[in-house]
Amino acid sequence: MAQSGPPHFAPDSPQTRLGGRDAPFEILARVGRSLLETDDFEQQLALTLSLATEALQAGRGSVMVFDPELGELTIRCAHGLPPEAIDSRRRFGEGISGWVAANREPVLLHGGVLDERFEGADPTIGSSLSLPLAVGGTTLGVLNLVRRTDERFTEEDLSLASSLADLASVAIEKARLHTALRERESRVSDLLAAVIRAQEQERRRIAGDIHDGFLQDLSALFLRAEIAKSHVEAGRPEEAAEVLVALQEMVRAQMRGVRDFILQVRPPALDEVGVGPTLRMMVERIATENSIEATFEDRTGPGRLPRPLETIIYRTAQEALRNVVLHAHARQIWVDMSRGEREVTLSVRDDGRGMGSDASSGHERRNHYGIETMRERVELTGGRLHIGPWAGGGTEVVAVIPIDAVD
Ligand SMILES: Nc1ncnc2c1ncn2[C@@H]1O[C@H](COP(=O)(O)OP(=O)(O)O)[C@@H](O)[C@H]1O
Ligand SMILES: [Mg+2]
Repeated sequence: MAQSGPPHFAPDSPQTRLGGRDAPFEILARVGRSLLETDDFEQQLALTLSLATEALQAGRGSVMVFDPELGELTIRCAHGLPPEAIDSRRRFGEGISGWVAANREPVLLHGGVLDERFEGADPTIGSSLSLPLAVGGTTLGVLNLVRRTDERFTEEDLSLASSLADLASVAIEKARLHTALRERESRVSDLLAAVIRAQEQERRRIAGDIHDGFLQDLSALFLRAEIAKSHVEAGRPEEAAEVLVALQEMVRAQMRGVRDFILQVRPPALDEVGVGPTLRMMVERIATENSIEATFEDRTGPGRLPRPLETIIYRTAQEALRNVVLHAHARQIWVDMSRGEREVTLSVRDDGRGMGSDASSGHERRNHYGIETMRERVELTGGRLHIGPWAGGGTEVVAVIPIDAVD
């Protein structure tokens, strides 16, 4: 089957085969109509291949899609090829398909492929047509059609297939844009839902803190005031004054508490001096209040990070540290921030008792949203959150967040 010498390019053939008995115009009209049937990218590729193999009576065929970022063509649908052919790749510019994609010119070949342009091509190939799928200046892929050697493609076949490929290209590009738009829309609505969820969880937590903290303390204040009142009514002004002094002290403590609470909800330092110094203050405060040894290292270098990124890092550190204080029984905490070329890494490690097996099973853990919210917030940016045991004993939380994710 293989023959030596250069490949035959479009030999003239008296037997014109145009997809059975139909004239090219009729075939193309039918192809054009069919291509309007779907706006789904994958379906459009499959449709293109089935229309082309039928119209050109090709025993084998494939549609390859070009990925400009990888510089590769990938077989996305195939006819008459072994299943493993799907997803096989070709470098742009290499082999027949690579050449066709790079030069945006069709190629008709017969017999053994010994043409030096197509190095690496299957030498047992029969008669083949490879057509660029392209719109304007954009290469979308390649349509390959193959017949047995004794049923060679003709010049007319080439011309019909080229017109078909041009029609299909427009339809494929339209479907590609349509599908990309749909994916984008669904990503945006996922994102919106996640943002709303994270916001609601944060509000729930704040509401819980106000309930457990301030509301109970206020009831205690009210009770003291009642006692003072009854002393006054009973004509015991000295006792009343004593209670009032204690009450004043309680109010003062409350005011401090409210101030701290506001700082935690949204520390002004985060806007004023950035996440590094704000985290340092937070770590120092936690260390003093809980008698834990804590070290904080900021290796992000000079200059501020994008503001939304700073907020995400701060919130992540805040929840991780809150968990250490509430659950870990740690003696030591290490907080570290570093900056790579494309991402910022935050790690919070403790030497406490570890998470145990109960922590991750979210189903039974109603009202425990800390880790979930932390993870969601980081993953929304395209980052990763790891939480688990580490070599130093205790628990580590490591968040890796792309720098350009938010701005
Ligand atoms: N640093 C830690 N050390 C030990 N246990 C932890 C730590 N962080 C989290 N946990 C465990 O994981 C659980 C879930 O944490 P989280 O989702 O923040 O909810 P919550 O803090 O409200 O309980 C905690 O209840 C705790 O059992
Ligand atoms: Mg928590």
